Amino acid sequence: MKKNQQLINLKESKTTLPINPIFKKRFSPRVFSKEMVKEEDLKIIFEAVRFTPSSYNRQPWFFYLAKKGTKSFDKLSSFLMEGNLWAKEAPFLILACYLEKDNYGKNAYAQYDLGQAVATLVYQAQDLGYFTHQMAGFDRERAKEIVLDKNHIPWVMVALGRLGDYDKASEDLVQKDFHKTERKMDVFANI
Ligand SMILES: Cc1cc2nc3c(=O)[nH]c(=O)nc-3n(C[C@H](O)[C@H](O)[C@H](O)COP(=O)(O)O)c2cc1C
Repeated sequence: MKKNQQLINLKESKTTLPINPIFKKRFSPRVFSKEMVKEEDLKIIFEAVRFTPSSYNRQPWFFYLAKKGTKSFDKLSSFLMEGNLWAKEAPFLILACYLEKDNYGKNAYAQYDLGQAVATLVYQAQDLGYFTHQMAGFDRERAKEIVLDKNHIPWVMVALGRLGDYDKASEDLVQKDFHKTERKMDVFANI
């Protein structure tokens, strides 16, 4: 069996209850295909993001997109920490920022809402057959150099693309990704 199929089988969450397959099948790979993300798919992904719920509907998020092969991509990837350099091979890097302030003043829920917007991005992308990998491991201070508005606070980077070929990937990345991602069991208590 090809390594990709083995990885997909390994990563699929074994749940006892019938959760939506979109949650069972998502995982964050480190090996991406060179295949470019389609322009129309990007539009769909960010159309979905627009409909994310947010506190007082303040929509405190802004995304910078960079396509591999452009100066913007090189700039974004130069902010990555060493352990995330695999993301340089992804066809798209996205810098997700929260808006610290708006017309109503400081927004205490901005980071929370940005997280929800990124989750929308992740699952809409997955629904279109893409994979994503979120990263906090980059130089957030340096990323501030590229934002168009000083109110955009860089918070997370996302690598986006199709799953790459693990049969051709470096042994190091194969080792890092070939493990089951454990989950805790208790997430609620009835009170
Ligand atoms: C806010 C955030 C920051 C993350 N930062 C990194 C990172 O810098 N490098 C990395 O390899 N993975 C990073 N991850 C991915 C997580 O490690 C991953 O989602 C978690 O281990 C669960 O694995 P899964 O997404 O494959 O289910 C990050 C995820 C989130 C949500």
